[in-house]
Amino acid sequence: MAEEIKKELPANFKVTIDNITIEVAPGTSILTAARQIGGDVTPPAMCYYSKLEGSGGKCRTCLVEVAAGSTADPRPMPKLVASCRTGVMDGMIVKNITSDKVTDARNGVVEFLLLNHPLDCPICDQAGECHLQDLGYDHGKEGTRYEFARRTFKKEDIGAYIQLHMTRCILCYRCTYIADQITEKRLHGIVDRGDHAAISTYISKAIDNDFSGNMIDVCPVGALTDKTFRFKNRVWFTKPVDAHRNCETPGCCGKATLWLRGDEVFRVTARKDQWGEVQSYDGKPGWICNTCRFDKKKTSDWQLDGLTSISRHSVIGANKYKVLDVPKETIRGVMSGRDPKLLMDIHNISEVNKPEVDLSELNRPANSGDFKHAIPTGEPDKTGDEEQNAGFLGRKN
Ligand code: SF4
Ligand code: FES
Repeated sequence: MAEEIKKELPANFKVTIDNITIEVAPGTSILTAARQIGGDVTPPAMCYYSKLEGSGGKCRTCLVEVAAGSTADPRPMPKLVASCRTGVMDGMIVKNITSDKVTDARNGVVEFLLLNHPLDCPICDQAGECHLQDLGYDHGKEGTRYEFARRTFKKEDIGAYIQLHMTRCILCYRCTYIADQITEKRLHGIVDRGDHAAISTYISKAIDNDFSGNMIDVCPVGALTDKTFRFKNRVWFTKPVDAHRNCETPGCCGKATLWLRGDEVFRVTARKDQWGEVQSYDGKPGWICNTCRFDKKKTSDWQLDGLTSISRHSVIGANKYKVLDVPKETIRGVMSGRDPKLLMDIHNISEVNKPEVDLSELNRPANSGDFKHAIPTGEPDKTGDEEQNAGFLGRKN
């Protein structure tokens, strides 16, 4: 029976998101399908992280409207659904930016996320690369309707390298998944409930393992920041450069982004993709170890690969240019293989200059003495050099 059902299912499911239809493999989530289309169609995701198993379903920023469940059952879904946690069906019709309901709901989600979040972007190290800041610009309101005191927490030292600002945490759980899935032992978690829920090591134990720094990379806000970089520079003043080194720590990909100011390496992070997630190499996420991240802060520790591509819309990309098209070197190359009809050589062909003057050899600006011209009064003709020297001498005397 199961075999029969399997045979009936198409190899790929057709899903339409904001009027764009694509085919995806069964089991793909709506969010992943939307990422395959890309651009504005892709819902924002504050808790889902494709490289972390079990992530998603916490923040509700990725809500979408399902206008038709599938070809077999085209009824709309009664409520908005979390696109990171809902699988596509064949013939499903999804609305994201084309749905007013979604925009309204997302505005509400952002308002809730910002209820207790301090508006301290001007002093927060995450400013310029904070997903909540971006979301706030897209969906936030100018003011807050919240009239109560904001939630505050006691300061907790969670280790030598990572600074925890619990007031900024949106409880996305990504850092706990990192600790569970790529470090030897998880030493922190979310304790308490509701308004009191907080990231904590509970028994004030320092988080100390080779890959703990990746918690900083996955944190979508400024709740976990790099102590070795804090307050040293704004990200948009630094220049991101891709670099690699032969790292011997098992599990470290050795590929990183160096954030430079001049020759000084201000911080080292994993390389990120267009969704703000670490890039994958050979199908594996490119996590980096703490040695690469915190101890290798000289350019001589790394082999530089080139400027990091930064989205044109990011504040980090401001005033930084990357050469995308290197000009073709030959005229024939520029002319798609054709020879030019006429090669203009101003010296030989135009004959505007005096035959004994080679304009390309002059180590000074050309002047009227270098060019052929009518000599009005029978004065002897001078080359530009003679004329220029005469001019200099004349001025001197
Ligand atoms: S500290 Fe950052 S990564 Fe961890 S739960 Fe809070 S927001 Fe998410
Ligand atoms: S990204 Fe889907 S619920 Fe957070």
